[in-house]
Amino acid sequence: MTTPEITLNSGTVIPQLGLGVWQATNDETEHAVRFALDDAGYRHIDTAAAYGNEEGVGRGIASSSVPREDIFVTTKLWNSDQGYQPALDAFDASLTRLGLDYVDLYLIHWPLQDPARRLHTWEALEKIADSGRAKAIGVCNFEPHHLQELVDRGGMLPAVDQVELHPHLPQHAIRDFAALHGIAVESWSPLGGTSNSGWGKASKPNTLLDDPVIARIGERHGKSAAQVLIRWHLQNGLIVIPKSVHDSRIAQNFDVFDFSLTEQDLDDIATLDDGVRVGFHPDQMNLGAPTG
Ligand code: A2P
Repeated sequence: MTTPEITLNSGTVIPQLGLGVWQATNDETEHAVRFALDDAGYRHIDTAAAYGNEEGVGRGIASSSVPREDIFVTTKLWNSDQGYQPALDAFDASLTRLGLDYVDLYLIHWPLQDPARRLHTWEALEKIADSGRAKAIGVCNFEPHHLQELVDRGGMLPAVDQVELHPHLPQHAIRDFAALHGIAVESWSPLGGTSNSGWGKASKPNTLLDDPVIARIGERHGKSAAQVLIRWHLQNGLIVIPKSVHDSRIAQNFDVFDFSLTEQDLDDIATLDDGVRVGFHPDQMNLGAPTG
């Protein structure tokens, strides 16, 4: 089974469904990536320097039988490495840890509360894109006002904005802005986040995987809550990267191409929009920001 694909504004083609690996150890990640590629059919892996598991991603790719050129790999620049030269150096370090000579997508992980440094970081990503060592560049957690800065600047636009996005937080303002400017939107915590974490929000329970509206829709289609949620992202034109380190869930999360949510299902899911986040609001987090 192959996933639907989206052509980014860079011309790069991204599989719409990928594997997320946040909060997985290197060993868990290596296993999950190899299983996802060889046994489940994934062709898209999403990691980050801050996850501490780029080595695991690299080992999983190296041990799989899928050729590198058939795999879409994303990694991200952490806050402590923002700024022009630090970003260039951090990118080199990520490639080394991944054991790759290019990534498909390189993202700024967070919009620091420092407009000058944000722009210097973006200039470094433009240079990386020009070098061909990242096929596309983008951002995470950028609100429309952060994206507007890049639009006003007139250089490259992000190919992707990866944001917290799920039925509790459908992010209509960001999606509308992104659509206007040809920026694809990617959902993190697409299943509603983990049961015991979320940046800055200890012990936020995951209410979506147990939600009765989602469960009822799943029963009608003979699918799990996770599968219903993944379809919701796909049918909304979003790129989606559910995380799991368990083989059965990795396989289940990819088994979503034999059913469709109805208009009524989508309307029912729309009632779950209550704006509740599992992570920080982008304007209220500066974790790890350089102080110099
Ligand atoms: P695990 O890695 O133990 O499977 P999100 O992608 O929204 O961040 O959510 C991921 C969380 O949901 C993880 O805690 C993951 O745990 C769990 N998860 C992933 N896939 C499924 C699934 N199919 N059913 C139930 N829980 C899942």
